[in-house]
Amino acid sequence: MTREQRLEALRDEIRRHHGCGFEPCETSTHAVPGEGTARARVMFVGEAPGAQEDRTGRPFVGAAGKLLDELLESVGMTRDDVYITNVLKARPPGNRDPRAAEVAHSWPWLEQELAIVEPDVIVPLGRHALARFAPGLKVTEAKGKLVHDEAGRALFPLLHPAVALRARDRRQELFDDIAGLPAALESGPGVRVAREEAEPESVQRQP
Ligand code: URA
Repeated sequence: MTREQRLEALRDEIRRHHGCGFEPCETSTHAVPGEGTARARVMFVGEAPGAQEDRTGRPFVGAAGKLLDELLESVGMTRDDVYITNVLKARPPGNRDPRAAEVAHSWPWLEQELAIVEPDVIVPLGRHALARFAPGLKVTEAKGKLVHDEAGRALFPLLHPAVALRARDRRQELFDDIAGLPAALESGPGVRVAREEAEPESVQRQP
């Protein structure tokens, strides 16, 4: 199976999933798998789908998503260049914070997305998403910088776009922070190592 086929199979599994008893999975309208290119070098990870995402079954399509589109454009990227997903694949009722058990339940899907796409850099959006990768790392200290989690994965944390929608003065900060992403993609030693190690496996796997 190609990378694209594996990703589509996973997306189907997430859409069909039900009956686990976890509130988001049982009460949401649509599951929201990640979307984007299966060969993305950058994977953006938000916390959980909101109301618009729940209605459409697509990640980051509401106001925060529009800002994410602008942020991507500011570094010469579009949604077609990246992969966008969330820690949770279903909206918690009333947009409440996800519970630890719900995160644990959804995490294997994110791990599979990571294993298939093999991004060079993961961009956790906001403190909640960052905490899932690197507990103890503060988004205010790590944002706009290349850092690594305990598994050696390269992270480039950013404020969540929704923060900039609530506080206009954070908007410029977000654009300033993402401006460092292209350089981080090219310059991080962890990034280069991850790519070199990933290459032979990816090549073998392609038909
Ligand atoms: N906020 C998120 O964290 N994810 C979405 O998909 C939308 C808003």
